[in-house]
Amino acid sequence: MYIYCCLRKKSKCGYLLENMDTQEGKFRFKISFWVATLIMLVAVSNSAVLGGDENSESLVDTAFYSVNHGVYGLGDMENDEWTMVQKKGNQFVVNGQPFYVNGFNTYWLMVFSVDQSTRGKVSEVFQQASSVGLTLCRTWAFNDGQWRALQKSPSVYDEDVFKALDFVVSEAKKYKIRLILSFVNNWQAYGGKAQYVKWGKAAGLNLTSDDDFFSHPTLKSYYKAHVKTVLNRVNTLTNITYKDDPTIFAWELMNEPRCESDTSGDRLQAWIEEMAVYVKSIDPRHLVEIGLEGFYGPSTPNRAQFNPNTYAQQVGTDFIRNHLALGVDFASVHIYADSWISQSISDKHLEFIKSWMQSHIDDSEKFLDMPVLFGEFGVSAKDPGFNSSFRDTLISTVYKTLLNSTKQGGSGGGSLLWQLFPEGTDYMDDGYAVVLSKSPSTSNIMSLQSTRLMTFNSLCSRKCHWGCKKKHALEAFLLHDEL
Ligand SMILES: *[C@@H]1O[C@H](CO)[C@@H](O)[C@H](O)[C@H]1NC(C)=O
Ligand SMILES: *[C@@H]1O[C@H](CO)[C@@H](O)[C@H](O)[C@H]1NC(C)=O
Ligand SMILES: *[C@@H]1O[C@H](CO)[C@@H](O)[C@H](O)[C@H]1NC(C)=O
Ligand SMILES: *[C@@H]1O[C@H](CO)[C@@H](O)[C@H](O)[C@H]1NC(C)=O
Repeated sequence: MYIYCCLRKKSKCGYLLENMDTQEGKFRFKISFWVATLIMLVAVSNSAVLGGDENSESLVDTAFYSVNHGVYGLGDMENDEWTMVQKKGNQFVVNGQPFYVNGFNTYWLMVFSVDQSTRGKVSEVFQQASSVGLTLCRTWAFNDGQWRALQKSPSVYDEDVFKALDFVVSEAKKYKIRLILSFVNNWQAYGGKAQYVKWGKAAGLNLTSDDDFFSHPTLKSYYKAHVKTVLNRVNTLTNITYKDDPTIFAWELMNEPRCESDTSGDRLQAWIEEMAVYVKSIDPRHLVEIGLEGFYGPSTPNRAQFNPNTYAQQVGTDFIRNHLALGVDFASVHIYADSWISQSISDKHLEFIKSWMQSHIDDSEKFLDMPVLFGEFGVSAKDPGFNSSFRDTLISTVYKTLLNSTKQGGSGGGSLLWQLFPEGTDYMDDGYAVVLSKSPSTSNIMSLQSTRLMTFNSLCSRKCHWGCKKKHALEAFLLHDEL
């Protein structure tokens, strides 16, 4: 209980309070406060400043938004060194400051980057993401045995495709966007565990299920060889080895691992334990996450009520237990009300999203002491009853739930929209793609969230120390419910 309490106070609110403890801080805050109040009045009288339905939000929110602009404008964030993202307690940190994340997924970047005729789309999506303040992109560092495969067969690579991945990494840095790179797919798209099993069969192994991927020693050795190759890759454009590159935010063991052949969860657990430690043994500096959807499993029957359906408990995953594995730095959760509850759009989706997020944020705080990243969330335009205003509401719901955690120094570390596309790539769309240039209202929502998170990130000066701080009257202001 003490530790929990302490951790909660190690928030950026804690940092700000700490700064406020000094006379200089008090003075500065007073100025900021009055400037903010002034800006707030201006903003309220000219609501176009904030745009959209966000105008109706509280005055405190508006004031804080404005303070941020002041702080951010005066700071030297632009000159910050490009350093490795780390984890302290339940927060991501970079350069000694919290790093709350607003980001996105575009899974096909490597494949588009191979061909000169489509490479421009990679730059385009980074440019558009950066224009709404997104700082993290999750994408595939795999394509196994398929068209434009990175790995044509075990340990045999197509150098042109690897150079394309090099381009993705170097281009991301250009736009100050970090990457989560995933090593393999649970699903058949881009090869996945099924392709590893095919390779094993071709090599004469007696394999009966795609889940042999998780336990057969030869298939595990194929996977490890791939991990090792990616980690030790020297980027041909930057000369930086991937395992030393701060552009990479984290490694993901697998996209949405499930192991239905063992509902006890032991089989997947053993794989996670082995592979997380393996990644760390080669690259101890980068963060590692699993890539789970976040279903509660047999180790926590009392949490099953938060699952979207009863089937979720039978896919061999176990949110709490899986994330306790050594080497796993932060929790990953996906949010798909439309595929898990009902395809037809309904307000129940929003209720589910709130409770699904809150339970994972709570558990990450209380049991895991780590940040949680909502690595995929979105809604498909193919769903019955879909319209773009519902999608905006859904995105806002995710953002607000996160912000409620952020402002309290909670474990809610960020969220990544599934998925952001540039124009002219519709043929890759699974229904979930958002094209910012065609969705001005969505752009505004994303942009506002980015600004808010940057506010929190910049509130902590580099002078701050980590530790527990006394309460302060200011806390009431910072923790205002409507913020
Ligand atoms: C292949 O493995 C299955 C299950 O592990 C076993 O029942 C079967 O006898 C094995 N077949 C061969 C040819 O070894
Ligand atoms: C990478 O290294 C090669 C060989 O040492 C050198 O020619 C090239 O200029 C370097 N490129 C960069 C971007 O540092
Ligand atoms: C959009 O969809 C939601 C949910 O189906 C519905 O409640 C709302 O009325 C729709 N709005 C418009 C503008 O069609
Ligand atoms: C905000 O966070 C607190 C503490 O984590 C939680 O109890 C509360 O339900 C959250 N409220 C909303 C509206 O998400």
